[in-house]
Amino acid sequence: MNILPVGIIGTGKYVPDKVLTNQDLEQMVDTNDEWISTRTGIKERRIASSEQASSDLAYQAAQIALENAGITAQDLDLIIVATITPDMAFPSTACVLQEKLNAKQAAAFDLSAACSGFIYGLANAANFIATGTYKYALVIGAECLSKITDYTDRNTCILFGDGAGAAVLGVVPEGRGFRSFELGADGSGGELLKIAGGGSRNPSSPESLEQKQHYIYMAGQEVFKFAVRIMGSAAEEALRKAGMDKGDVDLLVPHQANIRIIQSSLNRLELPEEKCMINLHKYGNVSAASIPIALAEAVEEGKVKEGDCLVMVGFGGGLTWGASVLVW
Ligand code: UT7
Repeated sequence: MNILPVGIIGTGKYVPDKVLTNQDLEQMVDTNDEWISTRTGIKERRIASSEQASSDLAYQAAQIALENAGITAQDLDLIIVATITPDMAFPSTACVLQEKLNAKQAAAFDLSAACSGFIYGLANAANFIATGTYKYALVIGAECLSKITDYTDRNTCILFGDGAGAAVLGVVPEGRGFRSFELGADGSGGELLKIAGGGSRNPSSPESLEQKQHYIYMAGQEVFKFAVRIMGSAAEEALRKAGMDKGDVDLLVPHQANIRIIQSSLNRLELPEEKCMINLHKYGNVSAASIPIALAEAVEEGKVKEGDCLVMVGFGGGLTWGASVLVW
């Protein structure tokens, strides 16, 4: 089989207008700006309105990515939405989005890999295009985490925000595009980060509501240790598979969970902060949307040039992780 070079040909992002600051959170739970800033690096996050669901955020990001790619929604063959906050259990948010975009030719499905979902989505879409099965794919990370956050739990409510990031994939000139993917999972850590209720194990019930099973539960310290270990090793493995080295990296686009996790990845990869896209102070942790929002913003800000070597790396619930090396 002939394998074609595949890359990202357009990016876009959307974040809701409403801003939730650390000072706002001080009024809601026993916390303070100093603690949140030093422990996480987050200053504020965006919050969707009561009318907005993940597909609405995805739609806005998709429109910009399609325009930047110079194609229309009708050209799309595939839509993948990575999310842990789908509009509903089913139909998939990807199908809802397909209808909103009028992308009649596109197959559409959601992908569940939590914060690693965008990298998992890229890997899936890239393979379809590399083999010639499809010509254009839209990969989106879209989240309304505010809708599954317990704003009485100071361990989690300070972290999360809402938004969407999109990428259009297509065939690119030889020598450019994706060089490697490194995906992984460790189901034994599933209990560390989860929403226990609302599925077939613990269906929604008055008891599940009372026990707050529909909100994010996280064992923060355990997830932190896992993240510090896996971010560096996944990025290094992706570089090794690409036949590249730490010294080749022009820009790291990491999952925006905690500034201390990002800094430990930079240390391990021996990269200065200028070679890293950091925007978590503005948006907090947006799960699957964090990496594509950061990527779209890096492009907007002119931080990505043709031929640059990008490393995207993320981790999340599952547990899962994913990294990719991409020549822009
Ligand atoms: O993308 C999904 C993956 N999730 C993550 O990446 C999160 C990974 N984990 C983390 O980023 C960090 O573990 C947190 C930011 C969640 C917490 O930071 P930490 O340095 O691990 O703090 P901790 O949980 O060890 O708590 C330290 C202290 C505790 O008080 P005591 O027991 O030492 O008296 C907490 O009760 O800080 C307290 N604390 C807070 N204080 C003020 C916990 N949350 C807060 C808060 N404000 N919001």
